[in-house]
Amino acid sequence: MDKILTVQQEALDAIAAADNLEKLNAVKIRYLGKKGSIQALMSEMKSLPKEEKPAFGQKVNVCKQEVSEALEKRQAVLEEGALAEQLIREKIDITLPGTLKTPGTTHPLLMIQQELEDLFLGMGYKVAEGPEVELDYYNFELANIPKDHPARDMQDTFYIDPNTLLRTHTTAMQMRELEKAEGKTPIKLICPGKVYRRDDDDATHSHQFMQCEGLVVGEHITLTDLKGTLEFMANRMFGEGRTIRFRPSYFPFTEPSVEVDVSCPFCNGKGCSVCKGSGWIEILGAGMVHPHVLEMNGFDPEKCSGFAFGVGLERVAMLKYGIDDIRNFYTNDARFLKMFDRFD
Ligand code: DAH
Repeated sequence: MDKILTVQQEALDAIAAADNLEKLNAVKIRYLGKKGSIQALMSEMKSLPKEEKPAFGQKVNVCKQEVSEALEKRQAVLEEGALAEQLIREKIDITLPGTLKTPGTTHPLLMIQQELEDLFLGMGYKVAEGPEVELDYYNFELANIPKDHPARDMQDTFYIDPNTLLRTHTTAMQMRELEKAEGKTPIKLICPGKVYRRDDDDATHSHQFMQCEGLVVGEHITLTDLKGTLEFMANRMFGEGRTIRFRPSYFPFTEPSVEVDVSCPFCNGKGCSVCKGSGWIEILGAGMVHPHVLEMNGFDPEKCSGFAFGVGLERVAMLKYGIDDIRNFYTNDARFLKMFDRFD
């Protein structure tokens, strides 16, 4: 009987001393396993006199039960502790600030392009596209600028081979669209895109820049239509109250040709440093499509006429946002580009 109590006490002490689940399991095997001490007590019962067996058996059972209960309790405590420990070990500090991603903003030139597209789509124009690597044929020949024409000197060109070049103006797309129409009118479109010239870069020149061409061909299209259209555009781009004026100019693909000025949006035409006191700012070139251009592209200049214009997007953006160096558009300084997120 004493032996039972000794074993029981030993087991309870061992359970209390087990400080992790592994050790506890070893204790369990040692006392409750098939070859464990308590089972050994059961076997000892065989050698006892018959009358002592029931009391002994009962005692061993009590011992077994107490040890089992103590084990279960201890196991629960240790499991809880192990879980708490794991939670501490695997804790993720969600209060740490993440790595900030700076989202991009729409490039100011793309903003101007989109503004122009919106405004002309609203007037029923379509938006056309064309290749930047262009044939001399579309860039010059069809635009009434044959080889050896002095106007070729106005646009110093990146040639790829004698017939292929980087387009120097969006007028190349105008020619492609005219040819594509196969003499059918009306045509109403704009073609925005990048153009290239062999210029030395400085505050107002860039070897790559953007233009947007406009083209309307139909019956009875006049210079007045051109003026009304450009005045509407000037008002939308530079604010209500703008007026425009035409100055005579020369382009081989238009006749007559005009240079278009807009009344200075900074001083309302009174004269300031931006317009150099004149009250006017030059914004684009335009004119009536040259009859010879119409003819070369399969139109009868007796039956239809058209106007065209080409506007530089950098110039518009510089005026609109007060930017004084064209290189800002191309050096990708995030601090410069970030300023435009408020217009996005
Ligand atoms: N292509 C001319 C340039 O790059 C701009 C231009 C002027 C386009 C008159 C036109 C136009 O369509 O009619 O300088």
